[in-house]
Amino acid sequence: MGDTLDTPPVLRTARLVLRPMTPRDAPDVTKWAGDFEVADTALNIPHPYPDGLAEEWIAMHGRAWREGREAVFAITARADGTLMGAIGLAGIDARHRHAELGYWLGRPFWGLGLATEAVRAVLHFAFETLDLDRVFAHHFVRNPASGRVLEKVGMVREGRLRAHVRQWGRPEDLIVRGILRKEWNAARAVDDVGPDPA
Ligand SMILES: CC(C)(COP(=O)(O)OP(=O)(O)OC[C@H]1O[C@@H](n2cnc3c(N)ncnc32)[C@H](O)[C@@H]1OP(=O)(O)O)[C@@H](O)C(=O)NCCC(=O)NCCS
Repeated sequence: MGDTLDTPPVLRTARLVLRPMTPRDAPDVTKWAGDFEVADTALNIPHPYPDGLAEEWIAMHGRAWREGREAVFAITARADGTLMGAIGLAGIDARHRHAELGYWLGRPFWGLGLATEAVRAVLHFAFETLDLDRVFAHHFVRNPASGRVLEKVGMVREGRLRAHVRQWGRPEDLIVRGILRKEWNAARAVDDVGPDPA
């Protein structure tokens, strides 16, 4: 976990390499996360996206990992290294063995199954490497694409948090979804959902 490696490991899937971010990723993060369509349904992306925020955010990743709190990955294309988005676990709680999953992709990369592929790899990492018992995620009610991603990987709908957050000054309901280690293992028994070890 965070006490044995300086950064999270690199995770590989059929089409993706999920790797720690570096300062050189800041312009791409700014470009994709700066799109209102991306910020609109993400929980923590301001709009307009301020200059320097990507640099600040990336600079915090190392410490958050070493302190065992967060594991953030750039979602990059295995074919040519293009940075397409970000995915991570936040609020990693060693005592309760849970963490919250979050992710976004730049708009040109939507609709290709890439978020689902990235989420599967991070769940594998959460259960197999971090030894967590539970991973959960929140999405806006008005974000069915994210709900579908989580549904496809076996994250069950656990409830609706009414007016739990404000987005663009208006209260919004969140759906909470979660998956337990035993559910992940059962899903793996019928479907090879782990990352490609190559
Ligand atoms: C949500 C997001 C990550 C999805 O990424 P993606 O790579 O397009 O997702 P996938 O292709 O893996 O899966 C999307 C699924 O949602 C479905 N979907 C897309 N739009 C939908 C809609 N309006 N209603 C219902 N389902 C929808 C797709 O058909 C697909 O399901 P399928 O495989 O059964 O056909 C991406 O749209 C995004 O980054 N959005 C902005 C940020 C964000 O919302 N992040 C998540 C915060 S909780």
